[in-house]
Amino acid sequence: MSAKTLDDFAQAGKRVLLRADLNVPMQGGKISDLTRLERLVPTIKELSERGARVIVCSHFDRPKGKRVPEMSLRPIAVALAQVLGRPVGFAEDCVGAPAEAAVKALADGDVLVLENTRYHGGEEQNDPELAKGLAALADVFVNDAFSAAHRAHASTEGVAHLLPSYAGRLMQAELTALQAALGAPKRPVAAIVAGSKVSTKLDLLTNLVARVDILVIGGAMANTFLAAQGADMGKSLQEPDLHETALKILAEAKRQGCEIVLPIDLVVSEKFEANPPTRIVAADAVPAGFMALDVGPASVDVFIKRLPEIKTIIWNGPLGAFEIPPFDAATNKLALAVADATEKGGLVSVGGGGDTVSALRGAGVADRLTYISSAGGAFLEWMEGKTLPGVLALGA
Ligand code: 3PG
Repeated sequence: MSAKTLDDFAQAGKRVLLRADLNVPMQGGKISDLTRLERLVPTIKELSERGARVIVCSHFDRPKGKRVPEMSLRPIAVALAQVLGRPVGFAEDCVGAPAEAAVKALADGDVLVLENTRYHGGEEQNDPELAKGLAALADVFVNDAFSAAHRAHASTEGVAHLLPSYAGRLMQAELTALQAALGAPKRPVAAIVAGSKVSTKLDLLTNLVARVDILVIGGAMANTFLAAQGADMGKSLQEPDLHETALKILAEAKRQGCEIVLPIDLVVSEKFEANPPTRIVAADAVPAGFMALDVGPASVDVFIKRLPEIKTIIWNGPLGAFEIPPFDAATNKLALAVADATEKGGLVSVGGGGDTVSALRGAGVADRLTYISSAGGAFLEWMEGKTLPGVLALGA
């Protein structure tokens, strides 16, 4: 990791603008998962304990330049205070008089949260004026929001050019883990890619066949690959217009020496609901009226048997419709095997992106892989081989 970190500047008395990702998931007006806040604790504690004045900025949801009251960061600041176990101030705006007054009132070690940066249209436009307003509040910029680093916004990218900039501890951990998984990984490297659509992960599949040794494809996107090769998929979700693309990916993988592993059996049902009657069928013979909802047990066993030879695994996407039991079975079984192999030593395992974290948490392995990224879209773009503007601006 080449970016400068908290080790590279004297923090005492400094006003530090900390770009965090306070974009926590909500259900019924309540925070449904505190992980993103908990992961900020090391950076905020370190800065505060060393006497910095910590000015936290973040987006929350997508208010598109308007002050949408439900998208205020005020309640998130309260939750952050609970997670940190210390008081956290709040400023009604992220720039201008309210922010300046709140920053002026800070003592060494204090923590302040600024209102949603996306209340300003200039945030998403990476407006230099907004970046200047943010930079005016602080002496240095620390970016701890890897999960927002795929956005070239004023608070993630623009401001990094206006202040001495550093990676926070969470950003540092993400970059180190991701570098170990795809930068200079121990081989063989396997990627597990699943999800509902080939169309949303085309760039990902194309990039991975050139970089990994084994690519395991699961989820409904495997249906498209199976159907493209002539399998009967019944009424399974798949994308007929992408059959040709799927065949091209298979051919390219062969050319690159990347082994593609598709399911050999599937769990099927006539209904997509909790605990319906199910059958296990060969992957090329889904009966009419049935749909594939999970990868079958034989397929999972085939992959588990290969684990001892694999040195690095990178995982994006649950293997089945994991939100509805029993279609989380394949994901859970493979996740446990990956966790065991990681703990026995020898395997570097990194998971991330969208549903993956909740699927791995559901499997009870959230703390047992080498690293689970807190990022959704940013993790995916990084796996696609894209440069993330927020990371680039840190010089990493
Ligand atoms: C995320 O939740 O993935 C990040 O906070 C980015 O949010 P966005 O997709 O609204 O930019």
